[in-house]
Amino acid sequence: MTTLHDKVPQGLDRKEAEAYRHLDPARLPKHIAIIMDGNGRWAKRRHMPRVAGHRAGVSAVRSTVETAARIHIPALTLYAFSEENWKKRPKSEVGFLMGLLSRYLKAEVPTLNKNNIRLEYIGRQHELPGDVQERMEWAREATSHNAGMVLTLALNYSARSELVDAFRSMVQAAAQNGGIEHLHVDEDMVARHLYTRNLPDPDLVVRTSGEMRLSNFLLWQLAYAEIYVTPTLWPDFRGLHLLEGIAEYQKRERRYGGLNHPESNHGDGHAAVETSSASDAKS
Ligand code: FPP
Repeated sequence: MTTLHDKVPQGLDRKEAEAYRHLDPARLPKHIAIIMDGNGRWAKRRHMPRVAGHRAGVSAVRSTVETAARIHIPALTLYAFSEENWKKRPKSEVGFLMGLLSRYLKAEVPTLNKNNIRLEYIGRQHELPGDVQERMEWAREATSHNAGMVLTLALNYSARSELVDAFRSMVQAAAQNGGIEHLHVDEDMVARHLYTRNLPDPDLVVRTSGEMRLSNFLLWQLAYAEIYVTPTLWPDFRGLHLLEGIAEYQKRERRYGGLNHPESNHGDGHAAVETSSASDAKS
């Protein structure tokens, strides 16, 4: 016989276990995307330099990743730095972030392996410093055998650049396969040329520090995602906050552009949406 206690995954702390008991394990999001924001403000409130906020942000990454893996979320994607961050912030801050990322990757691989997590990246990796690219490749390779959660780090990422790259890649593929006149573009084809081609679209996007923006993050993939904004600044975010976000997600009614009456959704909200066109998909 299953008891309430049995359904709590191993490794959660007492508060996390309590929060998990209020969730429906059958309706966990398959993919959670997080816009990590507020490191600078966290540091400023403590009269510390901005980089101290980024350093503290690593503990939040660690806790969030471990909790997500423990409750068997299949995919977690973290917006670590945008193309804009990379190009518009002082060189010293960018250099610090690159060093932090390198150290994180080196230190974290054993924990990722212990938790059966496979590491992936999205973004224009080739524009990052060579030594950082090498470290990224090393960490990807070292976790490639894991079959649990896929942790994707968005690095030098911009959703608009991703779409530009997808369109270029579609045209190039067509040119090599009988010519551009044979190119038939539809939603599936666009999705197959995105960096996220091997991931399901996120069901839930979390943004910390209270900002109500998507900031050029996964614009195509977040079309139907539930948005959860928390005032918590990223360095204070922990696995428990993730569970709170999931609880909020489970309270929402997802309609995918359909209605909530079964008959008008053809008995299944998902099926109705999958065949509907973008123009009638607004809810
Ligand atoms: C946003 O805060 C955060 C970033 C631009 C960097 C995120 C980096 C980390 C959390 C640490 C390193 C990441 C990994 C994966 C090891 P902000 O600086 O924009 O904060 P503000 O809006 O308060 O200024």
